[in-house]
Amino acid sequence: MKINKLKLLNFRNYKKLETTFQDGTTLIIGNNGRGKTNIVEALYFLSILKSFREEDSKTLIKNGEDFSTIEIEVENKITRVNLKIILNKKGKQMFINGNRVKKNSDFVGKINVISFVPKDAFLFKELPKIRRDFIDDEISKLSPSYNMAIGDYIKILKERNELLHQNPIDEVLFEILTRKMTILSVEILKRRYSFIKELNSMILPIFQKIAKEDMKLELLYSSFVSEKEISEEIIYEKIISRKNEDFQKQTTLIGLHKDDFIGLINGKDISKYASQGQQRLSVIALKLALIDYVQAQLNERPIIILDDVLSELDNVRQINLLDYLNGNNQLFITTASLDENISKKIRSKHQILEIIEENIKREE
Ligand SMILES: Nc1ncnc2c1ncn2[C@@H]1O[C@H](COP(=O)(O)OP(=O)(O)O)[C@@H](O)[C@H]1O
Ligand SMILES: [Mg+2]
Repeated sequence: MKINKLKLLNFRNYKKLETTFQDGTTLIIGNNGRGKTNIVEALYFLSILKSFREEDSKTLIKNGEDFSTIEIEVENKITRVNLKIILNKKGKQMFINGNRVKKNSDFVGKINVISFVPKDAFLFKELPKIRRDFIDDEISKLSPSYNMAIGDYIKILKERNELLHQNPIDEVLFEILTRKMTILSVEILKRRYSFIKELNSMILPIFQKIAKEDMKLELLYSSFVSEKEISEEIIYEKIISRKNEDFQKQTTLIGLHKDDFIGLINGKDISKYASQGQQRLSVIALKLALIDYVQAQLNERPIIILDDVLSELDNVRQINLLDYLNGNNQLFITTASLDENISKKIRSKHQILEIIEENIKREE
């Protein structure tokens, strides 16, 4: 798939921006603070309704304005679609081809954008929530039913935790919520296990190719239930076995909201043993595997963003990464400056947008 047009109104530092994009690579160049990341952030936002900067969506609205819009035309093998979001202080409105869409799950995934951002380098060292969000966001972009299931799970978990703060606790409601949690857990856990298993089956050759090193990289989903144990009976038993503690601590102590996944290099936990360079390459390999996975699932090529990540790699690895991506996907690269060899490599065949004080200069 590819994005043909972008229009921003009152988005971050942009009062108004309208631009077209071509296939292949678009290089967005400009000094720091000019608004390079803001452009790719807008594209990413439309794919999952969240920023990769993990901020409150209100911060996307240009300072001093009441609302913000992001609008794109996206083209896939079958059709062209216009996607639009209006953000205001109260929330957001979503439109597909001008028609209002009420549910997030009907909007998410209409474009699939995969981002590489500098803070990804710490993915394996981050809190488990960040890794769970990675899994949930990526599966959600592919599956509206998963997106709904995870949304429902979060809602029920919240209700259950609120209930645990009451005195006395309504045990009938407690039982109902536990059953609902169980049913959703079966669906969610199956998808999460299979997602990590699929990525794991693809990641090793990719890692070895970009790292040019003969190390073994593996991913493992880590949960309160093993994959074989996934069933309503077992999950219910495990959750309810902690009932007394849940009552005491007034929170739900066990469940997929505590799960995680880990990466291993040569059998050793990346978060504890890998160098920063190895961590960064592991995450790049993870995302490259994700690109292949998404492509296989959708039969469409996802859109890729490299936000300021080239400068963090040495030249050989920059070239390896660019070679790996190889122009098959629509690719957006933001950078303040580029090594000459790499710049030649990209400039020879792609579009360059230079940002000068909120205006875009085009070199083709
Ligand atoms: N809500 C906002 N309203 C106005 N300006 C904003 C807002 N959010 C961020 N900015 C501005 O956007 C600029 C940073 O844009 P960014 O895309 O991160 O730059 P870079 O080119 O370094 O990637 C800063 O000047 C910042 O002040
Ligand atoms: Mg930036």
